Amino acid sequence: MIPTSVFAPESTHAWLIYRYSLLVFAITGAIFVVVSGLLVYAIVRFRRRKGDDTAEPPQVYGSEQVEIAWTVIPVIIVIVLVLTTARTIHEIQDAPRPPGALEVTAIGRQWWWEFRYPSLGIVTANELHIPVSDPRDPTPTFLRLLSADVAHSFWVPRLAGKTDLIPNRANQMWMDPPQPGLYLGQCAEYCGTQHAKMLLRVYVHTREDFARWVAGQKAPAAITAAAASGQRVFETTACLNCHAVAGTVANGRFGPDLTHLMSRDTLAAGAVKNTVDNLKLWIQDPEAMKPGVLMPPMHLPQQELDDLVSYLVTLK
Ligand code: CUA
Repeated sequence: MIPTSVFAPESTHAWLIYRYSLLVFAITGAIFVVVSGLLVYAIVRFRRRKGDDTAEPPQVYGSEQVEIAWTVIPVIIVIVLVLTTARTIHEIQDAPRPPGALEVTAIGRQWWWEFRYPSLGIVTANELHIPVSDPRDPTPTFLRLLSADVAHSFWVPRLAGKTDLIPNRANQMWMDPPQPGLYLGQCAEYCGTQHAKMLLRVYVHTREDFARWVAGQKAPAAITAAAASGQRVFETTACLNCHAVAGTVANGRFGPDLTHLMSRDTLAAGAVKNTVDNLKLWIQDPEAMKPGVLMPPMHLPQQELDDLVSYLVTLK
């Protein structure tokens, strides 16, 4: 199955849109079949044949019954579509917020996502972790969508429809997947050169796994004596202007928080796997992976680069 298929909904929000889309497809499909069927019939039935006389055929002007039919039927179709659209929008926008709901602030940035869990004190990037929502005891996740620069759009097709992230405005959406798993998404609004590599991963955990993830994210950053020289590189180069590592002097805000960098599967907003080799390439020359990226190349001497990456890999 395609991991981003809108036809495999796994959350109420996505399921409501899916149900609505089936109705729209059925109605528009029926219109298509009737119109193209009549067209094909007319082409075949009334094509020019040998021996046709070339005189003008009889001209028919107006038919009350036909005109009433082709006015009333489309009006009924439009009313049905308007009412079902309004109902679906109401069901999605006015969803109740149960007491167990999790709040997350998602901030769109060129070209990555920042996720903040205000009630948990967690900040992470690009990979959103949420708990499953048991329909008998729902724990949906409500997202507050903000933008730090231009318009982006948050879209995880199997979990919810698209919602824009717009500067100076807070939008909202929610998801309540009943199945654990990994759901893939993508920024769905052109936001600049690397819009296509502004990928999005949502990890849906069982409650126990989510609690474990939360505990791991709340733990302070690892400080290892063996990685001290790499930490020194991190704290004496430009890294700390943009990146934060909780509990150290690094508290930059332009780039992703790196406190638990190694708990993420990917780098560069999902562009590549988070491996030692990719980290080194990313730090030395991020343009090689994401042309136009706002992170500058570091061009460190080999020893400093090795030390720096040895430090980063301790940030579990
Ligand atoms: Cu962010 Cu497209």
